[in-house]
Amino acid sequence: MAVSMSYKNKKIADVAEVLQKRLAKLDDKASILRATELKALYAELPQLRPEEKAAFGKEINQLKADLAEEVAKAGAKAEKLEPIDVTAPFDENVKGNKPRLLPTDQGSRHPLMTELDSVLDIFYRMGFTAIESRQIDDDYHMFETLNFPEGHPARDDYDTFMTKEGLIAPAHTSTMQNRVLKAHKKNLKDGKPIAVVIPGRVFRNEDVDARHEHTFYQLEGVYVGKNINAGNLIATLKTFLEEYYQQELDVKTQPFYFPFTEPSFEFAISCPFCQKKGCQVCSYAGWIELLGCGMIHPNVLKMAGIDANEYTGFAWGCGIDRLVMMKQNIEDVRHSESGKLEFLRQFK
Ligand code: DAH
Repeated sequence: MAVSMSYKNKKIADVAEVLQKRLAKLDDKASILRATELKALYAELPQLRPEEKAAFGKEINQLKADLAEEVAKAGAKAEKLEPIDVTAPFDENVKGNKPRLLPTDQGSRHPLMTELDSVLDIFYRMGFTAIESRQIDDDYHMFETLNFPEGHPARDDYDTFMTKEGLIAPAHTSTMQNRVLKAHKKNLKDGKPIAVVIPGRVFRNEDVDARHEHTFYQLEGVYVGKNINAGNLIATLKTFLEEYYQQELDVKTQPFYFPFTEPSFEFAISCPFCQKKGCQVCSYAGWIELLGCGMIHPNVLKMAGIDANEYTGFAWGCGIDRLVMMKQNIEDVRHSESGKLEFLRQFK
């Protein structure tokens, strides 16, 4: 038995014993690493006294490593696959050296990308241009330009991944705001607004379930001009959403907090499936909270060199997966990144 039973902490030793027994019976051995008992142990950490924390944390990590070793061993037994040498040279022109590809007529477009086209098409008709966001960014664009100074507690709401060099897998498409404002600010001098939407892939350190993924898509919107107010923000989003869902919707906002907008709102629409009667999609609330938005904070405009006394604007960030799930009646967000053909082929 490789899972060491020598855990000093009684609670961890008990969990180790339970999981060890369960592992023997599991078909999907790797699922043991997501066991709720393990998560519960990690969840206890913040409540411990500092002097207990380190030892407890070390033992949970040890338990997880031991289980991972068991899982790896079981996998090695189950499938003796030839390892692929990923460093081997590959010459496209050598006969017989071609990769085996599925015939193209079996392929299909990912539903998210098809829907994104129709989302963008609506915004183009409303006078917006589009630019894709980046999949790797820096602290300056992720936080500083968005009015989260160093050490600001709201940084903790955006728990994402960082490379050793300090580069960041962006947790939201708002990382593009400063770039877009700078690139288009000459519009303002010409008497025209800045109107840009920014689709892109974002990454979060999430506990994954049917409604949460670590990788998903967002659509950011930025609009700046003279005398722009929250009424313009609400009208723009309502117009877009009614066009996208092809029906009249009620909308409501409630106050929220984002460092980069003031005031900030959460924006909800009446459920497009039940028209507020209550159904499974809206968890019988009649309303669906869809996105975060607000009036761009003067500091964000200033950081991009825009005079916040002369110009105002609004911005929003919306999960595209969520939008599409509701349109296409998809019950689990994890299908999106799964690459499962049974899922993808339904959208051929
Ligand atoms: N970036 C926010 C998030 O991912 C969403 C958001 C809120 C974007 C307000 C905005 C905004 O542009 O103004 O949680």
